Amino acid sequence: MIKRIGILTGGGDCPGLNPVIRAVVKTAIEKYGMSVVGFKNGYKGLYNNETVELTLENTSGILHRGGTILFSSNKDNLFDYLVPDENGNMVKKNVSHVGVENIKKNNVDAMIIIGGDGTLTSGRDFARLGVPVIGVPKTIDNDLSSTDTTFGFDTAVGVAAEALDRIHTTAESHHRIITVEIMGRYAGFLGLSAGIAGGADVILIPEIPYDINKVADHIKNRIANGKEFSVVAVAEGAKSVTGEVVIQKVIENSPDPVRLGGIAQKVAEDLEQMVGLEARATILGHIQRGGTPSSADRILSTRYGVAAVELAMAGKFGNMVALKDNQMTYASLEDVIGANKAVDPNGELVQAAKAIGTCFGD
Ligand code: F6P
Repeated sequence: MIKRIGILTGGGDCPGLNPVIRAVVKTAIEKYGMSVVGFKNGYKGLYNNETVELTLENTSGILHRGGTILFSSNKDNLFDYLVPDENGNMVKKNVSHVGVENIKKNNVDAMIIIGGDGTLTSGRDFARLGVPVIGVPKTIDNDLSSTDTTFGFDTAVGVAAEALDRIHTTAESHHRIITVEIMGRYAGFLGLSAGIAGGADVILIPEIPYDINKVADHIKNRIANGKEFSVVAVAEGAKSVTGEVVIQKVIENSPDPVRLGGIAQKVAEDLEQMVGLEARATILGHIQRGGTPSSADRILSTRYGVAAVELAMAGKFGNMVALKDNQMTYASLEDVIGANKAVDPNGELVQAAKAIGTCFGD
């Protein structure tokens, strides 16, 4: 019998987190007469027992709001958490028992954990400890396995595609090559979809290592055909056939410490030299994660939130709600973790882009 649900949002934020929270709270309270407590700041708040009672009142009016009213953190893993030792030095320890105690202290019967692979890895590990966990898949990268789509992805595609539209007009006016760096970590879903939607002339993604000579030849061909400009969508995880990913910074105490960034600048410099047109780089960065969710993401997030409560009611813990063939379903967290999705280089979407003349540098 579930009387009280706990909820937290972890990892990088994305549009749609608030609609999930709203859907969970409405379903839990209005349909089942439960109560809901939110843990703030992801797992850090679970450790510190920072809570807020979630009600119909304080979750009203958040459907269209980006970010998360519960705040988030992409650094804190309670299974490997920085705490002071007896000498005051910071050391990493497994403090997951503190999280388990706080869940019990708050009389939580089911924990709904909304996050990407880092957050859901801890979710799986709490489930292994016997905590009744339901996962909800979030990320603009769309790289989580066992689900067709994560919420946040559609909004980010829209933002990046609009940026590419805007880059087109200025690139054309100045006869420039403009490279646009698009997030997505080690997966090219965001770069590929935004590149197609935004009409990029070249799309570079991690799954298809590029040969810069082929990219330069493609742009020279465009110039020969009277197109004295080119827009290049570069996924942040893209790499050349001979090179490595470009790392922007390393965040030591993060479960996934590497932050990618800088490849668009490198590609712009290479192309300027090889093609002879002036080249510039634009990094879209966190603009892709901020702001209001698209209608598609509001709908998907609402479905996920409702499905998460229903899954908890059915007692199917240790699972993540998932979308398969536009049907709500679920998958074991054991299968979701460690099996990130990647773009199929021979898949229909890449082939469609190639058929309309898009260069992938291969
Ligand atoms: O996973 C979401 C994401 O936005 C990635 O696309 C990106 O590489 C990373 O998070 C950026 O992380 P941070 O917000 O720590 O800079």
